[in-house]
Amino acid sequence: MTIAIHESALIRHFNTRKEVLRAWEEKIGARFSPFRGFKMPDSRLYIEDSDFLDSIVDLIITNERHVFIRGPVGSGKSTLMLLALRDLPTLADRKGNKFITGYVGMTGLYEKQMASAIADSLRIKYRRSWESSQIIDAVAKESLRRYLEEKSRTALFIEDVADNQEAAFHKLRFLADLPTEEMIDAYAGALDEPIFTLVMSGTMIYWNAMLSFLPQIADRTEPLDVPPLNDAKAREFIGRRIAYAQGRIDIFNPENFDIYPYSEEAVKVINTSAKGNPRDIRMLARGCQQVAAENFRNSGNPEVNRNIAVLVSEAYATILKEVQ
Ligand SMILES: Nc1ncnc2c1ncn2[C@@H]1O[C@H](COP(=O)(O)OP(=O)(O)OP(=O)(O)O)[C@@H](O)[C@H]1O
Ligand SMILES: [Mg+2]
Repeated sequence: MTIAIHESALIRHFNTRKEVLRAWEEKIGARFSPFRGFKMPDSRLYIEDSDFLDSIVDLIITNERHVFIRGPVGSGKSTLMLLALRDLPTLADRKGNKFITGYVGMTGLYEKQMASAIADSLRIKYRRSWESSQIIDAVAKESLRRYLEEKSRTALFIEDVADNQEAAFHKLRFLADLPTEEMIDAYAGALDEPIFTLVMSGTMIYWNAMLSFLPQIADRTEPLDVPPLNDAKAREFIGRRIAYAQGRIDIFNPENFDIYPYSEEAVKVINTSAKGNPRDIRMLARGCQQVAAENFRNSGNPEVNRNIAVLVSEAYATILKEVQ
């Protein structure tokens, strides 16, 4: 009986909170919270850093190194991979080779799961009964054929690469080294460059792990640190999400948009505390929404001002410290 009373109080508390948030969203013409997490973020929400994206794509095209997109959790590694994946099939290298791309987004894979995921992502056929080394062999052969007959190099994107079983990780080494000595001998003259580029992502910890456990790949891999969002980009991040929630993203003008009910000062405070990390910007902006919604109920003003941003940032800093 007691439990039931407590439960209903709790439920009432959450329902009231939901109503408060809902009223704020309605006030600013939003259909949902601008800062909710999306499982599949809409590409119209992406802020592009064209210089950094170019540096990734250039590195792949020049074909000298594999790439490791390095950054803390939530810094935008996956987003950058998707942007590079979008651009690569439209480009060619200086020899006129085009690109065939594959993307492995799952992690925690065993050897055979990794081999199958790679083959699937590159649309290469194999039999379920095959061992992982046979599957990888088929991938190597088909990549060679695509290079020779279709003038296409293969670029394989692998997320959070070190979050897989070590044996799975080793499968990548073979692909990273293509063409093999045998292939070079068999096609004398036609194979004088790598035909398979790895584009991996991970944190600094995983990069260091790769340096010590897989130096053979690490030595030929360029780590690129994801740049943090500057204040202008953080402002656009917030502006786009508000426009999206208002159903106005298709008429969003990056040259001229407003961020009401967030103040300019509030955005600067948020971005400073988030250190330009988009995931943290989103969390802080959402925290600000909650405080602003309470204010709105009491005073009728939905604004997210500097004070709110400072309050929320300090609260988050405390929580993060306690977690660590
Ligand atoms: N350039 C960007 N423009 C807009 N939103 C972004 C951008 N980069 C990242 N985000 C958003 O920030 C969040 C984290 O981004 P993402 O998943 O790309 O980071 P990550 O570094 O891959 O994180 P993890 O380490 O958790 O895999 C997502 O909600 C994503 O949509
Ligand atoms: Mg990611």
